[in-house]
Amino acid sequence: MNITATKDLNRALGSELIIAPVFEDSMPQDTANALGSPGIPESASKAGFNGKFKQNIFTEADGHLILLTGLGKKSEYNLEKMRRAYAEAYSKVKDASTGSVAVLLPGTHENEGFEAAYIFKVSHYYFDRFQTEKTTFPDLQLNIVTGVGQDVIDGAVKVGEATNFTRDAANMPPSRGTPSLFEKMAREISGVEVTAFGREDFVRLGMGGLEGVSRAATEPGKLVIMEYGPKDQKPLLLVGKGITFDSGGISIKPSEAMDEMKFDKCGASSVLGIMKLASDLKLNKHIIGMMPLTENLPGGNAYKPGDILKHYNGKTSEILSTDAEGRLVLADALSYGVEKYDPYAVIDFATLTGACVIALGNNIAGIMGTDANLISQIKKASSETWENVWELPIDQDFMDQIKSEVADIKNTGGRPGGAETAGAFLRNFVGEKPWAHLDIAGVAWTQAKTVKTPYLPHGATGFGVRLIYQYLMGN
Ligand code: BES
Ligand code: MN
Ligand code: ZN
Repeated sequence: MNITATKDLNRALGSELIIAPVFEDSMPQDTANALGSPGIPESASKAGFNGKFKQNIFTEADGHLILLTGLGKKSEYNLEKMRRAYAEAYSKVKDASTGSVAVLLPGTHENEGFEAAYIFKVSHYYFDRFQTEKTTFPDLQLNIVTGVGQDVIDGAVKVGEATNFTRDAANMPPSRGTPSLFEKMAREISGVEVTAFGREDFVRLGMGGLEGVSRAATEPGKLVIMEYGPKDQKPLLLVGKGITFDSGGISIKPSEAMDEMKFDKCGASSVLGIMKLASDLKLNKHIIGMMPLTENLPGGNAYKPGDILKHYNGKTSEILSTDAEGRLVLADALSYGVEKYDPYAVIDFATLTGACVIALGNNIAGIMGTDANLISQIKKASSETWENVWELPIDQDFMDQIKSEVADIKNTGGRPGGAETAGAFLRNFVGEKPWAHLDIAGVAWTQAKTVKTPYLPHGATGFGVRLIYQYLMGN
């Protein structure tokens, strides 16, 4: 797939196929006028096309092959509808297998050229590494008719590619997508300096969460730290939960759907993808990306319910469930990152709680934190992407709910407010830094999704890459 920007409508119309968006209320007459193709309204109505959202119909008029793409009513239209409409259109086009495609835009939003290129890129994804028969897509040349320059389109393509890179990492089967593989992938990103800590370092540095959770793992656990950009700037610190397989440990999970816990490394995968994107775009931003990586497995030497672990910042936690492991490894990464790099802000990504999935479903991530300003910046970025967030509270009662009788805090606060008490736990490890925590348990992969989103293929979604890109562009 090659995507170009063109301002020249007539040249684009020489393409083998034209994607033409149509609003329900303005109907194909506008499209006919725009294309100078008077036959469109008649051929559209013959085909039963009325511009309803998601309707896609091929038609021929005046020597052009046209895919009419319904956008629905103009008054109900927004960028998310555009994403879904163009993703549906793309799936039709790839089946029709033409070479060059002119892509017309509705002309209602400033960012739609970027959005179209990005959405084609993320819709064009399949994880077929382990399939004998590879998915084949036609080699399309997409010519987007837009006022924006090729640089904008190229940027959108890179954001899409980094999202797909995150999906590739997250989709890896658990015995292949190991902490060592993540370290290797980090080392392959150009312009990124990588440090990797192992077990001896966890013990030496007092990272009891990482030490405890990784104790019964066969694959060596690691804390991989990536640094990109000018060191004279205060950095942004990104931390991603990287449990490469979460069996629950001694507090073992039911076997049903346990396979999905290969996706418990989605937070780390997002951080990896964001670092790659920063490098690909040569962003002038100082970013630290941390990935606490380990399997969570049972074993004779495993950490146990009742154990007390001491984290990097000296706080101790009582283990009530070895299945609440994410917060334990994040605690060490967060407190180390905050102390060592003195960031201006901290953002973590974690498939942290089933409770968040119950609260917000599969299309909205939970956001929590200590800093209203940071949270509002991320919310604003989110409003420009498909990566929805909804704020959950961490108040004093949630902090009190995880106080322990035998340690400083305990690693679960029971079922009520499960997403918030997990956030409250993490809050103990970020000091006074502006911090936002994204619980992506519901949105990081599509298996559980009951409503399909056309630009999200089966498996990992890559949630977070575009969101942080958008955040960085605004700051
Ligand atoms: N990785 C899971 C959370 C999860 C569950 C994400 C289902 C996506 C789908 C996490 O490590 C976990 O097991 N959390 C427990 C915490 C509980 C023991 C306090 C949970 O949510 O049940
Ligand atoms: Mn768990
Ligand atoms: Zn987990």
